[in-house]
Amino acid sequence: MDRYYATTPIYYVNAKPHLGHAYTTIIGDAVCRWHRLLGDDVHFLTGTDEHGLKIQQAAEAAGKSPQQFTDEIAPLFQDAWQRLNISNDDFIRTTEPRHKVGVQQLLQRCYDAGDIELDVYAGKYCVPCEEYYTDEELLPGDLCAIHKRPVEYFEEENYFFRLSRFQDRLLDWYAAHPGAIVPEFRGNEALGLIRGGLRDFSISRTSLTWGIPLPWDSKHVAYVWFDALANYITAVGYGSDDAQFQHWWPAQHLIGKDIIRHHCVYWPAMLMSAGIELPAGWAVGGWLLSGGEKMSKTSGNVVNPLDLIPEVGVDGFRYYVLAETTYGQDGDFTYEGLIARYNSDLANNLGNLLARVATVVGKKCAGVGPAPRADSPLADAAVAAFEGAAAGWADVQPSRALEATWSLIRATNAYLEANEPWKAEPGPEVDAVMGDALEALRIVAVLASPSMPDTCQTVWERLGLPGSVGDQRLPHAAAWGGYPGGLPVVKGDSLFPRK
Ligand code: MSP
Repeated sequence: MDRYYATTPIYYVNAKPHLGHAYTTIIGDAVCRWHRLLGDDVHFLTGTDEHGLKIQQAAEAAGKSPQQFTDEIAPLFQDAWQRLNISNDDFIRTTEPRHKVGVQQLLQRCYDAGDIELDVYAGKYCVPCEEYYTDEELLPGDLCAIHKRPVEYFEEENYFFRLSRFQDRLLDWYAAHPGAIVPEFRGNEALGLIRGGLRDFSISRTSLTWGIPLPWDSKHVAYVWFDALANYITAVGYGSDDAQFQHWWPAQHLIGKDIIRHHCVYWPAMLMSAGIELPAGWAVGGWLLSGGEKMSKTSGNVVNPLDLIPEVGVDGFRYYVLAETTYGQDGDFTYEGLIARYNSDLANNLGNLLARVATVVGKKCAGVGPAPRADSPLADAAVAAFEGAAAGWADVQPSRALEATWSLIRATNAYLEANEPWKAEPGPEVDAVMGDALEALRIVAVLASPSMPDTCQTVWERLGLPGSVGDQRLPHAAAWGGYPGGLPVVKGDSLFPRK
């Protein structure tokens, strides 16, 4: 059994969950569900990033203490993920004790290795990014290039992480691990950052109190990114449960392109310094845009994912997020796009196929599903669908995985249209065609279940199949011929009423 540990970024609690957060989380969820179908030992982590200046300021603006403030917002993320059927195995909050002990251990290791030193820092800081920028990185008027708002001038005594010492080691490591970052062009971006030269970065602040104190100098609290990145190891026991840590680490990190520098440059250097194995990989997504801009609280263009559930259902929304954009590239969220995809792929393709099959089996086969033919013309389409889906999920390309899965739905609809079993007299010919269609639907239910768990369970049950679709195991469950026949097929309500 393979082990698969996947993480999402931990989200800042200065904002309520929005579509941009849901995007990465749903993709992580679907990839993990695929790995569970493969029989892998899976651990899926998400959580919230609760320290730092940005949160402290948001709490002040709300007239609350930071702890009170974060205690109110973190559950909104937990609730949102529950409503979106996210199967995370853990949820870490950076204000938890297990995190604090792990961060302090990591800091101490890097300090003992001589990679953290005291220095004075003066520079321009973007609070929403929690990042210092050089003049060349800023837009005219000292505006942050991401947030298009003025940076602040800070001067303080800081501890620095000597990132500049890691350039060669990082380049060597990436050279020895080709494909660690997918898609490849995002990996090239990370290499470009490293080749461009690495500046030491400040890892502590004295100007704020909302954070984890450095173990050797408690006047300083840890820089929020140092604190946040460590969640990936502290959540699985680093500093608190070594056996658990050994079991799960390393992870594949799902991240957005905005945080490549932190995840693909800072983080592996921090791990090297502390003598910890580097991540298993990174899968870097683009942004979901709204009106051509990254959706973010600061830009004020956020869409609440929960608002879309009444429109297209949880699974309709999950499907849209997974199928609409190519992971790695930017994608545009539009309401029209959501409805168009719902109608074409879900109502007209999957929903229509199930309705047709159940209706014909009801009328021509007395409601009892016949067995498929071993040499069905659909068998090759099923093999191709499985292979395409497997490759797509393995590469963290959900849109490709679903395209491959939907090719089997389209082939089955075309097969029914070519054979027109609804016009034929009941008998062996109709039974053979319907058995093939039922078997194709069974395989579709398995392959599509990471994207739409509840809908696929409904399909599974309507075909009369016992147990849970999520408990099926690949590749066996995708092999042609698994539908036994002789099961009651239920028509039921329309899966996806047309909009
Ligand atoms: N707290 C940091 C991450 C620390 S991870 C150790 C952070 N939080 S965030 O809430 O601002 O955003 C985190 C991630 O959410 C982004 O990197 C990205 O993966 C995802 N997204 C947030 N807005 C997004 C879009 N509009 N589109 C796609 N993903 C976006 O950065």
